[in-house]
Amino acid sequence: MSKWLICAAWPYINAVPHLGTLIGSVLSADVIARYLRLKGEEVVFVSGSDEHGTPIEVEAIKLKISPKELTDKYHQLVKKLFERWNISFDNYSRTENPIHVDFVRRFYLKLYERGYIYEKEIEMPFCSQCQMFLPDRFIEGECPYCHYKGARGDQCDSCGRLLEPTRLINPRCNICGGKPIIKRTKHWFFDLPKLANELYKYVENNEKLPPNARNMSLAMLREGLKPRAITRDNKWGIPAPFPGSEGKTIYVWMEAVLGYITATIEFFNRRGEENRWKEFWLNEDTKSVYFIGKDNIPFHTIIFPALLIASGENYVLPWTVSSTEYLLFRGEKFSKSRRVGIWIDEALELFPVDYWRFSLLINRPENKDFNFTWEAFKESVNSHLNDTIGNFIHRTLTFIYKNFGSKIPKVNNLFEEDEKEVNKVKGMVQKAEKLLDDFKIRESLITIVSIAAEGNRYLNERAPWDLIKTNRDKAAQVMYVAAYIVKVLAVTLYPFIPTSAQKIWNMLGYEGVTRDWGEAYILPKAGQQIKKPKPVFKKISDEDLKNALQKLEEIRQRN
Ligand code: MF3
Ligand code: ZN
Repeated sequence: MSKWLICAAWPYINAVPHLGTLIGSVLSADVIARYLRLKGEEVVFVSGSDEHGTPIEVEAIKLKISPKELTDKYHQLVKKLFERWNISFDNYSRTENPIHVDFVRRFYLKLYERGYIYEKEIEMPFCSQCQMFLPDRFIEGECPYCHYKGARGDQCDSCGRLLEPTRLINPRCNICGGKPIIKRTKHWFFDLPKLANELYKYVENNEKLPPNARNMSLAMLREGLKPRAITRDNKWGIPAPFPGSEGKTIYVWMEAVLGYITATIEFFNRRGEENRWKEFWLNEDTKSVYFIGKDNIPFHTIIFPALLIASGENYVLPWTVSSTEYLLFRGEKFSKSRRVGIWIDEALELFPVDYWRFSLLINRPENKDFNFTWEAFKESVNSHLNDTIGNFIHRTLTFIYKNFGSKIPKVNNLFEEDEKEVNKVKGMVQKAEKLLDDFKIRESLITIVSIAAEGNRYLNERAPWDLIKTNRDKAAQVMYVAAYIVKVLAVTLYPFIPTSAQKIWNMLGYEGVTRDWGEAYILPKAGQQIKKPKPVFKKISDEDLKNALQKLEEIRQRN
């Protein structure tokens, strides 16, 4: 048994997240957390609302409310939504949480005392119209590296590189569109170059990192790290703790990443086990995995490890990250202002949660962007979930229900063909398992679908509906093996579509919840009474889809 920290990137809480955010972090992390728990591993699964920083401030200014009002509202809402999505967090926290604020301030004082932070007067873009400095998302311009026109003050969305606002070409204020002037201001800097060697070693030796994360990180290290400003002139944020830093706050990324630690502390505090968090975070054997979109890579493979190393406390460094490419919506980037995309509250009004989970996971943008279309959604539900998985389970269970007195048939010895089938399926379970061990969530799910397809092929080949007329024993063998394959599906689908998997498990006559991945290798108990089978999934017709799209329009008009 190992200790695992399953960490999902904290969504900016300026709005309800869209499906792209969900698949990029929280939903993918949930699959792995559930899977590892099934394997009997010790898992702490954390995330939370990222409340500070310019994304929140910009939105609050637009809505003419305070940032805190905005994040209070969305934190509550999103926390409930994640519950409805069946995300099995141990703790979903927030960065306004006093434990977090306090930890961050003490952490940075420590870094300051250890000589990793220094102050310096610098030039910063300032908007005379709005009377404010323009860090991060308050400013946009052209990226000095890749020349993408919409780069922001802290990062380019196109090439992913970290930036400083003064380096943008043709900058403009994101609130009023005006051209900024340059003003001097004092800031505190994190001395990243001082850690370059250790970071290089960390990235270089970390064979677990997926290629997209590894290549981007090595490229950044080779280009040379620059000191990063960790303070901001904004009021909204965690107050900087350094001598003379009154009135400044900490840059959102520099504190949000520490949330993984503080959410773990809060989790154990609630259980009255104040020191247990250390068994996870101050333990070099702990495996920590970060589920993030690819734009988050440098913060998790460079900045976060750098902070941890600089603290001198032996925090466990990220074991790996699982970084996804982008989910596009009908060929476009999700956009709130233009209403391109689907949001996680709307989705649940249209179709059952497991349809969404399934469809997002089987199309998870693991190696390349995935283009969401309604046709692709319908296709994945109809052909995989309904026709392959649902259909196999239903035909097996109804046949047993009708022909074997609703009991999993008794068998003495399996015939060779049937034994072979069992082994073949076990091999496929092993493959799905191995893929999950490598966080290849999409391929693992595809493998599980192929187990159901194999079940269908097996039934067609052995034709128990004919056998039952001539050789009842043989038919019993076949149905026993088919019942085993249903059991395999109930267990292996659980991390992906927990509600449906649970239904299948109970229909097969098991009480309680699926708790053990190992059950996928164990044949079912002969004679076990099954429940009256009901189809678990339903096909989406053209009519259903039309209605859903109309409903979506109505929801949007209401809001
Ligand atoms: N809020 C960031 C985003 O949406 C992710 C923060 S991850 C954390 O891109 F590590 F900082 F929490
Ligand atoms: Zn302005």
